[in-house]
Amino acid sequence: MIKKIGVLTSGGDAPGMNAAVRAVVRTAISKGMEVYGVRRGYVGLITGDVFQMDEKSVTDIIHNGGTILYTARCPEFRTAEGVAKAKAKCDEIGIEGLVVIGGDGSFRGAADLSAQGVLCIGLPGTIDNDIACTEYTIGFDTAMNTAMELVDKLRDTSQSHDRISVVEVMGRGAGHIAVNTGIACGATDIITKEVPYDLDKIANTMLEKKSKGKQNFVVIVAEGVGHSQEIATALQEKTGIEARATILGHVQRGGSPTLRDRVEATRMGYYAVELLEQGIGNRVVGLKEGKIVDYDIQEALAMQKPYDEKLHKIAEQIAF
Ligand code: ADP
Ligand code: F6P
Repeated sequence: MIKKIGVLTSGGDAPGMNAAVRAVVRTAISKGMEVYGVRRGYVGLITGDVFQMDEKSVTDIIHNGGTILYTARCPEFRTAEGVAKAKAKCDEIGIEGLVVIGGDGSFRGAADLSAQGVLCIGLPGTIDNDIACTEYTIGFDTAMNTAMELVDKLRDTSQSHDRISVVEVMGRGAGHIAVNTGIACGATDIITKEVPYDLDKIANTMLEKKSKGKQNFVVIVAEGVGHSQEIATALQEKTGIEARATILGHVQRGGSPTLRDRVEATRMGYYAVELLEQGIGNRVVGLKEGKIVDYDIQEALAMQKPYDEKLHKIAEQIAF
């Protein structure tokens, strides 16, 4: 029976990470385990920035964005020496199991530490929803809703000025935020890495729509495509319609998590502790057809996540 576990958040933060930490801490305590919070991801594990948590440590955090444990990127943990230092720290404190809330990079680290004998469970925490083994990642819903609200605001001013608004949303490696936000905001065009695009075609279609009375246009661009300013400039040159580019940026990573993020984070955090309780490690937790499941970390990392091309097509077909 595992007696002491740790929990950390790593990589880019995501709204709902606090809800996951809260679930891990409270579940573990309810099962008679001791829980240790590790600050700043693997950095804290290497330096020993670790503190014991109780029920009250996670009071009043479920509704807060960010992460009370802080987060960091830790290049040292990519080395065998770094992992060995972290393992030594775990041994010193007596941490036998660790919940790692983060993305694929953090899971690679968790696999390395699992190989050294610490039972690690990964929970998918990233706004990008770009983790292949799960339908859903903690933070995705909040980020999309934030992006949607901001694009709605941009639409107001774009409308008043008869402009093209080119809006870049986050998603370095994947267009999931872009396609969903695009649908939700009734974007005229969605540009992601997953679907080829042609600026001449987009500009010609805009001119056609203009001739039928349309006066303003919202174009959503995924961060992975980049060049939003260049796209805006090119569309302005090709159409003669004034264009502005806006990069929404890190504002999408903050804010109070939505209900969905709080609930999924709680379900996943609870499940992670159940696995550790059974002495199971080297797993990643995910959502499949609405159910919580788990996978071997290496298997999870080898999976490919499909892009919702159907959703992209629907958006294109019904846009005007
Ligand atoms: P995310 O977890 O969001 O994908 P990163 O890719 O920045 O974010 O990874 C977070 C941390 O996980 C890194 O700073 C590093 O400490 C650790 N990590 C990333 N990749 C590896 C790897 N290949 N091997 C071991 N640790 C890794
Ligand atoms: O992975 C989440 C994410 O927000 C990406 O969409 C973005 O590219 C990246 O993190 C930015 O990370 P940072 O600026 O914190 O390095």
